[in-house]
Amino acid sequence: MKSVLLLNASPLGADARGHALALRAVDNLRAAHPGLRLLARDLSRGGFGAVDAAYAHAIIGGAGPEAPAFRRSEALIAELEQTDALVISTPMHNYTVPAALKLWIDLVLRAGRSFGFRDGRKVGLLADRPVLVVLASGGLIGSGARQPDHLTGYLTDVLATIGIGAPQFLCLEGLARAETAQGVLAGARARLDALPVFGRAAAQRAIAS
Ligand SMILES: Cc1cc2nc3c(=O)[nH]c(=O)nc-3n(C[C@H](O)[C@H](O)[C@H](O)COP(=O)(O)O)c2cc1C
Repeated sequence: MKSVLLLNASPLGADARGHALALRAVDNLRAAHPGLRLLARDLSRGGFGAVDAAYAHAIIGGAGPEAPAFRRSEALIAELEQTDALVISTPMHNYTVPAALKLWIDLVLRAGRSFGFRDGRKVGLLADRPVLVVLASGGLIGSGARQPDHLTGYLTDVLATIGIGAPQFLCLEGLARAETAQGVLAGARARLDALPVFGRAAAQRAIAS
């Protein structure tokens, strides 16, 4: 592994609780892969493109990658092409991904560029890679959840569309309850460190070998 792309979709930017864990995952990767290059993008800052009329016309009209409307989309896809691991830190917003991450998705998933078609089905055109999604939510989203989860399945489907399979989700659930949030974060740190590829044990194994 030579490089990792880190996407932070929280409006809290560097203050997001999920972001601290995402940085820890990057540190673990660095320990296992000395010289690892980090490419980081704070999606909530915006400025990386828009789904405007020009972009929609280019998508619907099947414009080529050189179309001016695709300039920013091309830059985002190039970031995926230049890296071989992906860490996404995202909160849940109204049961799904925040608008900033949805915009990234709409700019990255492009027919004929990041996915194609075989037998009428979409097939990814980007290289598969290890993916960690650090998912922070105010309420529960796993067992005991009292809300729908349109994030984990959706993001898994989106990544599969471009050829990136099997994301590992590290869920920081129930952060809205201040009295238990610290315990949730400590538990998530321990689970992260035990993960394959992104964990501390994986880093130590790589150093020992
Ligand atoms: C606009 C908005 C919508 C939210 N919607 C949900 C939701 O549907 N379910 C949930 O569990 N938490 C929801 N939350 C709470 C966040 O997921 C929670 O604050 C999370 O811990 C933020 O993570 P971060 O500190 O990493 O940014 C929402 C927060 C905001 C700002």
